[in-house]
Formats: sequence, C-alpha cells, structure tokens
Amino acid sequence: MSTLFTNIKELIQVREHGKDLLRGKQMDELPSIKNAFLWIEDGLIKDYGSMDEFHPHPAEEVYDCTGKIITPGYVDSHTHLVFAGTREKEFEDRIHGLTYEEIAVRGGGILNSAAALGKMTEDELFEQARLRLDEVVAQGTTAIEIKSGYGLSVESELKILRVVSRLRESGTTTHHIIPIKRTFLGAHAFPEKYKNDREGYIKLIIHEMLPKIGEEKLADYIDVFCETNYFTVDEMLRIIEAGSAYGLKAKVHVNQFTSLGAIDAAVKAGAVSVDHLEVMESTDFMALSKAKTIATALPSCSFFLGLDYAPVNEMIDRDIAVSLASDYNPGSTPSGNLNFVFSLACIKMKMTPQRAFNALTVNAAHALEMQDELGSITKGKRANLLIFKNIESIAAVPYNFGQVVIDQVVIDGVFI
Ligand code: NIG
Ligand code: FE
Repeated sequence: MSTLFTNIKELIQVREHGKDLLRGKQMDELPSIKNAFLWIEDGLIKDYGSMDEFHPHPAEEVYDCTGKIITPGYVDSHTHLVFAGTREKEFEDRIHGLTYEEIAVRGGGILNSAAALGKMTEDELFEQARLRLDEVVAQGTTAIEIKSGYGLSVESELKILRVVSRLRESGTTTHHIIPIKRTFLGAHAFPEKYKNDREGYIKLIIHEMLPKIGEEKLADYIDVFCETNYFTVDEMLRIIEAGSAYGLKAKVHVNQFTSLGAIDAAVKAGAVSVDHLEVMESTDFMALSKAKTIATALPSCSFFLGLDYAPVNEMIDRDIAVSLASDYNPGSTPSGNLNFVFSLACIKMKMTPQRAFNALTVNAAHALEMQDELGSITKGKRANLLIFKNIESIAAVPYNFGQVVIDQVVIDGVFI
C-alpha cells in the first residue's frame, strides 16, 4: 500500500534524524518544508521533500493537499484511560470549597474509582475504555501510554492491565491500532484495607502483583504516586527496584503537591520520566538538568484542579528535557484532548507553540521510548499523521482553544 500527498502547504516537524531528545534552544525550532510532498509506503514514511524536487512516485493513491498542513500525530505519554465511572460529585465538592487532598483523605478520590472498578467486568471495562480510545485518536493522539492504578487489588490491577493489553492488540472500534505502552501503577494509593498496614500493601505489590504481571507480560513500565499521604520516596524506590527485576522501567508521579526529593531519587534510579512537577524546588531543577529522565508536565490536571502549572520554560532554559501529556483520568483530568493541552501549555504555561508542539511530539515519543518510530516526519518512521486545513500556522491549534481543528488523522498511512 503506497500513498502520496502532494502540494502540502506546510509539512511540519521534518527532521532528518528525528531521534534526538530536544533541550534548551532546540525546543524553539520547528523545522518544516513549505509546498511539500510526502510519500508513505506500507505505513511508513518513505520520502518527503519540496515540490520543486518532486519526481513521480509509484503510489497507488495520490492526495492533493493544497492548502493543508501535515504534522506527526500527538503522543500521549501519561494517561489512566481505563477507569470505571466518573467523579462529578467530587467536582461539585471542590466547587463548594473542598480541596482535592481533603476529598482523598476522606476516602474519596482514587479509592472511589477503585471501588467502582472492582464491580465492573473486564469486558465492560474494555468496551468503555475502547470508546475513550476512539475519542482521543479522533482528537489526534496517535500513540498512548495507559496506566493501571484504579484496581489496588491483585485481581483488579491485573484486570486493568489485561484490558490495556487487549486495546493494544485490537485498537479502536474501527480497528486502527495505535502504539500503546502499559504501565503498572499498583502504588497509586493505599486501599482502605491496608490503611494501617502500609507494609502489607507494598508486599502485596512486590510479591503478588508484580510476579503475575511479569508472568503474563502485562506491563512495560512501573509507576508510583510519590506524595504526602501516598507513597514515600523510600517506598517508591523499593517498588521501582522490584519492578526492574521484571524489566519494567520507571515513569513516576512526583511533585504534584509537595517536593519530597523524589525527582533526584527517580533520576538516580534511571526513571524514563518524572511526571506532574507542579511544585519544584531548586534542588529538583538541579537533579533534572541535563538528565536523561524526561520531565512530563500535565497542564490539564492543573487546569481542572485549579492548581499551579509546572514551570516548563524555566525547565527548558535549564536544559531539562520537557514533554507534555494529558493525564486523562476521572479524578484530576477528565479529558484526553491534547489540543487542549497544547492551548494550556501556550496560554497558562507561556510556552511558544513551537516549544509546546515539540513537547507533544518528539519529546513525548522519547517519554514512551518510541523515538525511533514516532514523533517526527523522518524517513522510516510510522506514518501516524495529522492533517489540518484552513489554518495558517501551527499556532492556530492552541489559539482555537476548546476546539479540534484537525481535519484528518492518519494511522500507519491509513485515514481513520
Ligand atoms: O495523575 N495524582 C495521581 N493520580 C492521578 C489522579 C488520580 C485520581 O484522582 O483519580 C493524576 O492526577
Ligand atoms: Fe497521572
């Protein structure tokens, strides 16, 4: 199967070697070709260039893209897309003045979602999650990470990871398969039963959940919510270390409400990414500067909870590799729309559209260790693309906040 796009108004995020993690001033560059062609073969980018150098390609399908912009698709490196039920009651409670933390301490929050999920069958969960996947793919997400963490029991954590594995194999309801990375987040909260037996729950994670996940090969990464009232830095390190015995690298929730020294610890433990980062102290910046570990900001979470945003420009200026993701979940971020994340990054975090788009594509692909396959228009990478019409530049995407201006999404060279 071979497809040719001609007369593209602008082909954006074109990188000959699209595998470098972007830092500092590199984040300000968004290389593109005006009046371009793009040739796809068997789902991969085969060739591209200026129409001036265009020579006929043996393509089965040819699309005239006059007036259209083409970019790589978004990569969402942090979601909790498999969940049961919504939490509007807590949303209203927050409007009346309760904080996210107060609700959690009262047994709401994550525990609420875990109770609902325990009652659902694997098939029900799968069907619901699949509809969410359909929705985010239509909004431009062309690769995604999905965490467990609303199970908090051996049976339910495995149930979620099996659902994620099924989504990975079967894709959307229209059978478009996007790359999915699976993260085990058993250490998301202490279940009611273990409230006074933290050690018991940690042992359950390490000695019961992890071996089964390893045996069934149900996860790619391990995550811990390291936070006051949740898991301590030492507990996080123990859990990360236990995960590494099963080949799971770490992607962790840190510095959402408090700076506990988790960033330095996670970087030293070789974490692929540290996510949230709303609360940053100077030692946290120092730990991340020039590190391989990626700093993933989740602005929709800050928006929804009305809290601080991660200081991303300061991070970029200190040579920290920054990516952006949605954090799609029922408690703190009931939206997986990366166009909205793009808008918030520009409006609330004052990222330029160039910086934000780099964070949503190239660096986000790194946050899923898929930089060889995704994130840029590079020969040999997968043809997971977004097509925009009637826009002048990429800045129109965040500018049109709350809207999806994408005209078409392409997965492995096929229109969805
Ligand atoms: O990433 N912070 C921890 N976990 C989720 C929210 C969990 C919930 O409230 O359901 C997050 O924001
Ligand atoms: Fe999260």
